[in-house]
Amino acid sequence: MTERAQRTWTSLAGLDRADILAVNAADREWGAALPARVLTHLQALRGRDASVGMPVDRLQHSLQCATRAYRDNRSNEYVACALLHGLGDALAPYSHAALVVCVLKPFVSERLHGIVEHHALCRGYYYFHHLGHAGFARKRYRDQHWYGDAAEFRERFDQCWFDPAHASRPLDFIEPAVHEVMDSRRSALGQGCTSIEAAGLAHEP
Ligand SMILES: [Fe+2]
Repeated sequence: MTERAQRTWTSLAGLDRADILAVNAADREWGAALPARVLTHLQALRGRDASVGMPVDRLQHSLQCATRAYRDNRSNEYVACALLHGLGDALAPYSHAALVVCVLKPFVSERLHGIVEHHALCRGYYYFHHLGHAGFARKRYRDQHWYGDAAEFRERFDQCWFDPAHASRPLDFIEPAVHEVMDSRRSALGQGCTSIEAAGLAHEP
């Protein structure tokens, strides 16, 4: 983080232009470091506690999904989403898809957004009925714009990669895809995080 002059404001009402420009500049650096923070957090899915009854831990599952997507010549955006689709499991085990969608939304297409947003629902296709619930309601979802892509992700990448014998690529091989996706879109987002949020309010009366 760049050294900056100490600011003296203590409330938002006391901000002057120089203050908010300084905050914006720092925000850009904070945004630039997002891929590294995301990849650090992903490693919370490593280890026996993160396997919770599965044959591999959640990080290995994520790496196997991403490796399969890479070997299937999917885009870096797809590979990054395959790697990160379970990112929210550590902090939001009851709503993990919603968490990761919030992280990825500024950086991925509507198609990839739909895949990640609905992957947790779609995987229930394989086990809802074992838990006493009605079976996965394919008819209910099949007309949704995201269903075909989410079903493909479910079938080809998400459901089949819990295999301890599968040699996935290591994280440092996959992680450039995350940097590329986030770095390429970040420049299009323009100003610092505070300005992005404010942009939506700029035209309100
Ligand atoms: Fe998964």
